[in-house]
Amino acid sequence: MDPYSESRFIGFVTMVSPLQTRVHFPSSILLKKFFNADDGYHAITGKYIVIEGTGCGFLGKITEIALPEKERLELTESKFEKDVFHPTGKVEILLCFDNYKLKAKKGLDQLPPVSAKVYLCSDTFLGSLLTQFGVKDGILPKTLPLATLPDNENHKIDVSSQALFGRHCAIVGTTGGGKSWTVAKLIEQVVAQNGKAILIDATGEYETLKSNEIEYYKFNEISQEGIYFNYKKLRETDLFALFRPSQQSQLPKLQEAMKSLRLIEIINNKNTPLDITDSLIKNEAFTTSREHGYTTLKKKDTTENFKYISACKNNTSVYSNHCTFEMTALAAQILSECVYDNGSPDNPARNNCQSLISRILLTTNDRSFLNVFDFKNELDLLCKNEFESIFENFLKGKSNVLILSVSNVSTENKLREILVNSIGRYLLEKALSEAFKAASKKSLLLFLDEAHLFLNKKVKDEYSIEVELDAFDRIAKECRKFGLFLVISTQMPRDIPRGVLSQMGTFIVHRLINQQDREAIEFACSDANKSALSFLPILSSGEAMLTGVDFPMPMILKITEPNVKPDSNTPSVF
Ligand SMILES: Nc1ncnc2c1ncn2[C@@H]1O[C@H](COP(=O)(O)OP(=O)(O)OP(=O)(O)O)[C@@H](O)[C@H]1O
Ligand SMILES: [Mg+2]
Repeated sequence: MDPYSESRFIGFVTMVSPLQTRVHFPSSILLKKFFNADDGYHAITGKYIVIEGTGCGFLGKITEIALPEKERLELTESKFEKDVFHPTGKVEILLCFDNYKLKAKKGLDQLPPVSAKVYLCSDTFLGSLLTQFGVKDGILPKTLPLATLPDNENHKIDVSSQALFGRHCAIVGTTGGGKSWTVAKLIEQVVAQNGKAILIDATGEYETLKSNEIEYYKFNEISQEGIYFNYKKLRETDLFALFRPSQQSQLPKLQEAMKSLRLIEIINNKNTPLDITDSLIKNEAFTTSREHGYTTLKKKDTTENFKYISACKNNTSVYSNHCTFEMTALAAQILSECVYDNGSPDNPARNNCQSLISRILLTTNDRSFLNVFDFKNELDLLCKNEFESIFENFLKGKSNVLILSVSNVSTENKLREILVNSIGRYLLEKALSEAFKAASKKSLLLFLDEAHLFLNKKVKDEYSIEVELDAFDRIAKECRKFGLFLVISTQMPRDIPRGVLSQMGTFIVHRLINQQDREAIEFACSDANKSALSFLPILSSGEAMLTGVDFPMPMILKITEPNVKPDSNTPSVF
């Protein structure tokens, strides 16, 4: 493979500066279509070229072609066909490669000499350079047949899977750019490589992917395919997000109530007391009342309160942030907390908590909340699929991908955000406990489509405390070393917190028109310089710029269509 074939010669380097290289085309004919060469047009803006240096060659991209000022006025078609025009071009040098090994070098430590010859880069050579990206120390990584060259569909490009996913990956682009198809293509590759991935489907468009290797479950649906998230896996802060207590008067009562309910659970679970303190609690039997199917703890008088305090001291797990208690009792328990030390009702406190109590009652009785979190412990009769057990089986089992659809979950009161955040946090905790790391275990890829709906979200209203839903931010920052890799897809990079964006090692950037979005990407990937980004608005569906820490230069590719397409068509208007 000779990158410098005379049939593709187009011109000479005439000026070199660190920012820009200029090329002189000795004849306008060299810009014309050359059917004997393999690439159709010889030189047009956007094409890759190679420059022959001594010892090493350079790969560049034509960013501009222009006619000299004085020749412009004389331009006619027939004259242009002949020799008489002398266009010049600007070239951006992308990388240098070894002339003998024909391999890309790390970093650009030199520039081409003036008067060096410039050739059009052949697809074969370009392809061979791109496929080597991400190859470390000569060890061939697993590569994924993911894409082709944009103007040559026959020329396949394999991308190293480690370079692609190894440091979290972001897929961005305006709507219709092809993100969902790219996600489907990547999922296809996860199956082909026998990996493990979870996909959170916000719109239900991935239902078409269901197969033997790909399990599909829907939240807020009572059927074979339905799945729910047991509220006992929630954390205190999730309840704050759901019930939005006010800082001053409601939050302390809510916390107190959760503590009491946890104490009830502890007492109920201690069947055989082991030591003195345990039996003390058991025998000191708090005044509990069981009404309407749930148990609350009554604080009657001062001595009862002392018992309560000492019981809490002996059972510090009442201070945990878990929600393993009877949720239906929570509203009533808050009322029981609104008492004075002597046990008489504290009416001002009750009044203050009224709005909180009604929010709790509304939420824990609302059908969509019940179907998602199973507050009444009733769903296992109707739908056997509890998230944790499904997930554990998925990890152990043969299937490669678990798709969780949240499209039926209402966004009212941030239910959907809270749910997705809880799933994220569950996976985060799993990862931190090294569930995906050990040699015998597989890493897990976590795909989050429409990530702008879930990242950077806070729950706050006029009076309530602010709760940040930050599980995915934390996954981005903490989980790479633990074998949990994030793949986010979004049409609005500007809505993703910068901290998260800068954790992304790889970007697949589809067409991107909005200036702010382009700036967000520019901020996140320093090596994708301005001129590479300037091609983003003119990419067509399915074309994308692939850039990242493990790729020496940004490259524009056409992502191959997935075999099974997601159902993402916009319905027709009429
Ligand atoms: N790799 C591809 N090759 C050919 N056509 C593609 C490709 N990817 C996407 N398309 C076309 O673009 C359309 C939109 O793609 P897709 O649904 O993936 O966009 P999207 O970026 O996910 O949009 P949205 O932000 O609205 O979800 C597809 O219906 C398909 O016709
Ligand atoms: Mg989409």
